[in-house]
Amino acid sequence: MSEKLWDGRFAEGTDKVVEKFTSSIAIDRRLYRHDIEGSMAHCRMLAGAGIITEAEMTTLVEGLAAIRQEIEAGRFTYDDRLEDIHMHIEDRLGQLVGPVARKLHTARSRNDQVAVDARLYLRAETGAVIDRLMALRRVLVDMAADQLGHVMPGYTHLQRAQPVLLSHHLMAYYEMFTRDSGRFGDARTRMDVNPLGCAALAGTTFPIDREATTVALGFRAMAANSMDAVADRDFMLEFMAAASICMVHFSRLAEELILWSSAEFGFIELPDAFATGSSIMPQKKNPDVPELVRGKTGRVFGDLMALLTTMKSLPLAYNRDMQEDKIALFSTVDTLKAVIEVVARMLPHIRFNTETMRRESERGFLNATDLADYLVGRGLAFREAHAVVGRAVAHALDQGKELQALSLEELQSFSDRIDDGVYAALELDQVVDRRTSAGGTGTASVKAAITKARADLHTEVPGGTPGGAD
Ligand code: ARG
Repeated sequence: MSEKLWDGRFAEGTDKVVEKFTSSIAIDRRLYRHDIEGSMAHCRMLAGAGIITEAEMTTLVEGLAAIRQEIEAGRFTYDDRLEDIHMHIEDRLGQLVGPVARKLHTARSRNDQVAVDARLYLRAETGAVIDRLMALRRVLVDMAADQLGHVMPGYTHLQRAQPVLLSHHLMAYYEMFTRDSGRFGDARTRMDVNPLGCAALAGTTFPIDREATTVALGFRAMAANSMDAVADRDFMLEFMAAASICMVHFSRLAEELILWSSAEFGFIELPDAFATGSSIMPQKKNPDVPELVRGKTGRVFGDLMALLTTMKSLPLAYNRDMQEDKIALFSTVDTLKAVIEVVARMLPHIRFNTETMRRESERGFLNATDLADYLVGRGLAFREAHAVVGRAVAHALDQGKELQALSLEELQSFSDRIDDGVYAALELDQVVDRRTSAGGTGTASVKAAITKARADLHTEVPGGTPGGAD
C-alpha cells in the first residue's frame, strides 16, 4: 500500500476507526466508469493546453483504460485506507505507470471530480429512467386500447360516483407517468452542466480549457461559478424530487391494484407469477408486488429528505457531509428503476373481471347526475334538478331499487318533466358515452386520448424529454 495521496502535512497516520468511518469506497465504487471518463477528458485537455506533454497524456489515458479493464474483470482491490474511488484509481495509476501519474490531478480537486462523476452517472441513469417510463407508458396505452368498451365505477372519496371506462382510468396513469417523464427530462437538462475545472472551489492558476472538457464529456454547458459548481447538489435533489412524485403515482396505482384484487372489490385477478402465497393459510394469494411498490415509496421519500437535510445548512463550498449524497441517490435510482420494471412487466398480465366491474357500475346510483342533467335538458335549473334527483334517490333507497328500476309513474312523481325517454338517459353505456367533453370518459374522447398518446410516444426519442425543457 502506497502512502496516502494527501498526507504531506500529517505527522501521524489515520486512526483505523476513522479510516473506516470516512471511507466511501463501498458506495462510490460504482462511479468508476464516470471517474475514468472524466479523468481521460481532463488528461486530454491538460495536453491540449500544454500543461502536460502528449506522451504523458497517452501514458495516463492508457493507464486509466487498463484500470477500467481491471475493475470490469473483477481484478481490482479495494481498501478503506484509500477512502474513495478517486483515490483508488489515482493510486493504482501510480502503480501502473509510475511517477507521471502524479500529474493527473493538476488543476483539479476531488471536489470538481466527484461533481463531474455524479453528473455523468445521473445523466445516464435519468435517460434510463425516461426509457423505462416510456416502455411503461406504452403498456398502459396498449391496455387502454385493449380494454375499450368496459365500464367500471368511478370513485370520489372512495364512494361510487359516476361510471367511467376502464380505459379512461388506465389513461389517467398514462398522464401521470408522462408528466414524470417530463420532470426527469427537465432535471436532466439542468444537471447536464460541467463542473470540471472548478477545482477545489476557486478555479485554478493553470491555463485550462473548460470548453474542451465540456465538449469531450458531452455537456450542454459549463458551470458558471466555481464555488456553486462544487457545492451544488440540486441536480440530485431534483432527480430525487421527481422520483418521489413518480413514486406517489406508483403507490396510488399499487393501492388500487391491492383494493381491486380484494374479494370486496373483485375487479382484477393478479397474475400468479406476481403474487405469493401464505405459509399458514393455504387459500391465500397476496398482492406482494403492489404492496412492495407502495412500501418502497417510503424509501424514496426518505432518501429525498435525507439529502435535503444534509444540504440545508452547509456553508459554501464543499463539505464532507456531501459524501452522504450518493447513499441516498443510488438507493433512489435503484428502487425507482426496479419499480418501473416490475410494474411494466406485471400490468399486461392482470386479468380484469369486466363483468363484475359492469355489474357494480349499475348499482349505487352512478347515473344520478345523468338524471339531473336530463332534467336540465328539460328546462330545470341544475340546483333544482339536483334536489329532485336527491328525493328520487331517497325513495329508491327506501324501495331497495336503482333509479333505472323505478317505474315511470314513480319517477314522474318527482317531476312532471320526466317521460319515457328517461330510461335511455339512465342506461349505463349512454351515461358513459354522452361524456364527450374533451378529456372526458366518453368512448370518443378516450379513443382520441389513446390516438394522441400513441402519436406522442411515436415522436419521442428514446431517453428524450417529452414535455421537457428543451
Ligand atoms: N468521497 C468524496 C465525496 O464523495 C469526494 C470528495 C472529497 N473531497 C474532499 N476534499 N475530501 O464527497
